[in-house]
Amino acid sequence: MVHDSVRAIRWENDQLVLLDQRLLPSEYTEITYQTVNDVADAIRDMVVRGAPAIGITAAFGIVIAARQRYQDNPESWKQSIETDLEYLAASRPTAVNLFWAIDHMRACFANIDSDPVASLLAEAKKIHDEDIAANKAMGDFGASLIQPGSAVLTHCNAGALATGGYGTALGVIRSAYGQDKLQQVYADETRPWLQGARLTAWELLQDQIPVTLIAEGAASWLMKQGKVQWIIVGSDRIAANGDVANKIGTYQLAVSARHHGVRFMVAAPTSTVDMDMSNGDLIPIESRDSNELLQCGGQAMAAPGASAWNPVFDVTPAELVDAIVTERGIVERPNAEKMLAMMQNA
Ligand code: MRU
Repeated sequence: MVHDSVRAIRWENDQLVLLDQRLLPSEYTEITYQTVNDVADAIRDMVVRGAPAIGITAAFGIVIAARQRYQDNPESWKQSIETDLEYLAASRPTAVNLFWAIDHMRACFANIDSDPVASLLAEAKKIHDEDIAANKAMGDFGASLIQPGSAVLTHCNAGALATGGYGTALGVIRSAYGQDKLQQVYADETRPWLQGARLTAWELLQDQIPVTLIAEGAASWLMKQGKVQWIIVGSDRIAANGDVANKIGTYQLAVSARHHGVRFMVAAPTSTVDMDMSNGDLIPIESRDSNELLQCGGQAMAAPGASAWNPVFDVTPAELVDAIVTERGIVERPNAEKMLAMMQNA
């Protein structure tokens, strides 16, 4: 059985269609986008989220921008589209796939002088298709590390919803489950957006993969009981030395995993590796509105007058990572030398 039915991004009738992930699991609603600014706002407002999905969405957003700019003025569209690229780039700072996709699409249109839409659309579709293929490859690489009868814990949502399809961390889980290696999948609820409780649980259940939720405060206790052998997460940006930025709470999982002898795997495509960042301290960490913590579903939750600190990513140092898995293979105990070798092995 193929456990792979969820897709969050579609190009249909010359328009971009996104599944509104803010409403899952209670509502399955899709939104159609006709302007690049609306696409950028969808990224910022979390209609679409997850590093590879953000990159793919931006690529389709650039197709929409080019269509409009070329129609407005076929002579000057390459200059005027830069405003759109800047607006897209300002949507979320941590996921490097966003900047990767913008650079990739800019390089693609640099040499086009006629109507750019068909070529850019083909390129955006290629980015989307290649992301799915990369996830399937890394799913199999990651699954090869997992012993039959294992239980795993994942954090946030690094699944089909967060990518072109199949997922990174959830891709490894899909592949391992398909090979009958997993006796249990645990998911952290992942406050404050509850990507684990809302999205990972929904996505796995869509594909008949049983899932058990835990509060993230229960993770160390789960490990202490010997109930889990691997932590498997995705990433928003991996530095050249193997330091990994991912959803806030990932770092404490890695610290605790090392303490308890639990192994720690990061699954991400090479488009998430930023060889221009020598180490994780340089990765920009997004901070979001404190109301995301102080409220839940628009209802006040915290004591009135309390303030909140809301960094939404953290950085796990490479020495706490047992394996980085990309579509090119497995980097065990990552460091700068091994990451460079992997990136040069195209
Ligand atoms: O704030 P989000 O939901 O965009 O954060 C997503 C994550 O942290 C994912 O783990 C990461 O982007 C990898 S997705 C394959």
